[in-house]
Amino acid sequence: MGKGSLMCRYARLTFVVIVASFAAGCGGGLSESSCSTPGVECTLAQAADEAGMWFGAAIESPSQFGVEQTVPSDFNSVTAENAMKWGELARTVGNYDFTRADAIAQFAEAKGVRLRGHTLVWRDQLPVDLRDKVLNAVDPARKLDEFLDDHIATVAGHFAGQAEVWDVVNEPLSAVGASLDRSLFYRFLGEQFIDDSFRRARIADPEAKLYLNEFFYSYALTDDRVQSFLALLARLRDREVPIDGVGVQAHFNGITPLTTRSEFQKFLTAIANLGLSIEITELDVSESYFRSGTNATAAQAALYRAVVGACAGVPACRGITVWGIHDGDTWLDTTPLFAPNAPHRPLLFDSLLTRKTAYYESLSALAERNNQIGIR
Ligand code: XIL
Repeated sequence: MGKGSLMCRYARLTFVVIVASFAAGCGGGLSESSCSTPGVECTLAQAADEAGMWFGAAIESPSQFGVEQTVPSDFNSVTAENAMKWGELARTVGNYDFTRADAIAQFAEAKGVRLRGHTLVWRDQLPVDLRDKVLNAVDPARKLDEFLDDHIATVAGHFAGQAEVWDVVNEPLSAVGASLDRSLFYRFLGEQFIDDSFRRARIADPEAKLYLNEFFYSYALTDDRVQSFLALLARLRDREVPIDGVGVQAHFNGITPLTTRSEFQKFLTAIANLGLSIEITELDVSESYFRSGTNATAAQAALYRAVVGACAGVPACRGITVWGIHDGDTWLDTTPLFAPNAPHRPLLFDSLLTRKTAYYESLSALAERNNQIGIR
């Protein structure tokens, strides 16, 4: 139920307010106005509320430029872009400082938006001394397992009741091939580290929805990496690992190929067919793909429309999160691998917080949840 339509209901309580509600665009008589009604202007958050979906953004801190201006008006969910990663919470193993992460969790609570927890177990951004402590231990596998167990219990326990969802394991696949990544976790614990992480997260926070988050180069069902990922999901399901959903990163970063509505929706459907929920967790679309064309803004908006529409068209897809609020503050411009193509301008707001064409295309794509338009 959207906040807008709730307000409309309350507004009907008295005649005086009914008059005011007409003026506010709530519509007359018994039918409620909705974001798909011509002439009714909605924000992304309102349209997402109405569609029963999430439209979120990654944020670094509540005081970052753009956050107050867009949460909760435009986004009904937030993810910590970095603050909840293991090495950001604990520079060295076991020495937790929750200050930055708590500020985001409290901000989400104060604004009444959902908080996605990102991420408990990932090969990157680890405590600086984790590797050495493990390698120097008498029994490295056992030591790492103890560290993992303690970390998941501490962090998922800390945010229990605040984080509605956790990306429990991030990027289990290798960045260069289709097999599982030979991370510290995999090398010492094997694939079992994934199962154990989910089981431990379920114990630490039984209410949270537990997700496996991954990035892809291609979304084609014939792609090796996609097949390897789907096979992993099937194995987890067969072992009754408590996994609720899959986070699909969707960084169109200027290097990896673009996709189409049809291909992307088939990919989401393949995950849904395994009985899992889905979220698009880290969407951004670099304008650098389209520089040689005439209208990069429109081309970017078309891809946003394809991705958001595909999610809206698959009932198991719960929502979309963009990886940043505005173009002046995107990881693509500062990350060495992608910086050569800067400025990427990959987000929904420009650096002055003006809504881009991609914002409006995403907005109308959300309506497809209610209309259930199929693959086009
Ligand atoms: C990125 C952040 O955006 C950067 O600020 C940081 O320097 C590196 O990590 N996949 C993920 C995210 O799951 O956590 C990454 O975030 C982007 C790729």
